[in-house]
Amino acid sequence: MPLNASSLQRAVEVFRVSFGTSPEIVTVAPGRVNLIGEHTDYNEGFVLPIAVDRYLCVAARGRSDRTVKIVAADLNDSDEFSLDNVQSDEQANWRNYPRGVAWVIQQNGIELKGIDAVVASDIPIGAGLSSSAAIEVGFALTFLHFVQANVPRPTLAQWCQLAEHKFAGVQCGIMDQMIALLGKENHALLLDCRDLSHQLVPLPSGTVFVVADTGVPRTLAASEYNIRRRQCKEAVQWLSETLGRPLRSLRDVTIEELGQVFNEMPEPIRKRARHVVTENNRVLAFQQAMREGALKRAGYLLLASHASLRDDYEVSCRELDAMVNALMSVDGVYGARLTGAGFGGACLAMVREDALTRVLEEVPRRYVEELGQNAPEPNLFAVRVSDGAWVESL
Ligand code: GLA
Repeated sequence: MPLNASSLQRAVEVFRVSFGTSPEIVTVAPGRVNLIGEHTDYNEGFVLPIAVDRYLCVAARGRSDRTVKIVAADLNDSDEFSLDNVQSDEQANWRNYPRGVAWVIQQNGIELKGIDAVVASDIPIGAGLSSSAAIEVGFALTFLHFVQANVPRPTLAQWCQLAEHKFAGVQCGIMDQMIALLGKENHALLLDCRDLSHQLVPLPSGTVFVVADTGVPRTLAASEYNIRRRQCKEAVQWLSETLGRPLRSLRDVTIEELGQVFNEMPEPIRKRARHVVTENNRVLAFQQAMREGALKRAGYLLLASHASLRDDYEVSCRELDAMVNALMSVDGVYGARLTGAGFGGACLAMVREDALTRVLEEVPRRYVEELGQNAPEPNLFAVRVSDGAWVESL
């Protein structure tokens, strides 16, 4: 896929300046937006993400030794480590992603070679577009390229996830790594996080997806995220005992079963469970609506997802709610919801193509109006649905 991303040019230029030679390859990894299916992946449920045309690029050249040198073009920072002793780094968190993937690939028996690399990215950090999965996937494919190892992409996604758990300290699910590796232009990826089986869902023409960043950094995301994971585990345990059969995850519970015991179930775990169980159904209904071109129905499902994330899962915030309101106040917006982990970051909206200009003009004003004087500065942009990561030889 030809690419004119500014991150690609930056990575190549900074490589020349930093290493005095040209890179051999550039690995391109997309950001992602989840259309629906939030906080379901680590509950073995369904998700429906898209890869988007915001890219992280790794320009690289192989070395003959076991040293890895990385320049982070946008951060004015660099890293150097030996593949013989890969440790996490406490000073700069970005360093843990390349280190983590190098560690996990070698743990799986593939001996890597050193590289010189420059990373540059157009994926906004902290907006919920998963710049973290992009950097993991970008470096994983780069490392593997230089030893000519072929790892099936779903397996590689699991390795990248483990790298994030071990080196970055976030117990993330599998969605982000899967879509960054398996995305397809003009399609969403319906992924069953129980067994990683997946299907491409064609997206209807005449609509565009808009990312509406609230301007609020996701400060609580990591700690609250891990708390939600724990609460889901507790819910599974309580439901296993009460329903009298062993459950592996919230995926094993139907809405009817949850309804039967809901009144006895303690808070907050019953609300958490209700979000996950209903959200799984919404994913399946939404992908069906996409296939049928039933855009209004799809829009309602997005709004229902937001309400459930706000009221039951409690991962929204004032600004995310205000953004959904601002988006929905413009004619031609089918639906909107927070996307990603929540606690700040961005909303996603599904917009009729001919309403796009109006949305980009009107929504920032209405958002600021609703929040008053200290409103953070929003940033809205339309995304195109991209392919998953790939390696370009130069
Ligand atoms: C983060 C995680 C994903 C997923 C979402 C919530 O983006 O990295 O695995 O759990 O939050 O849906």
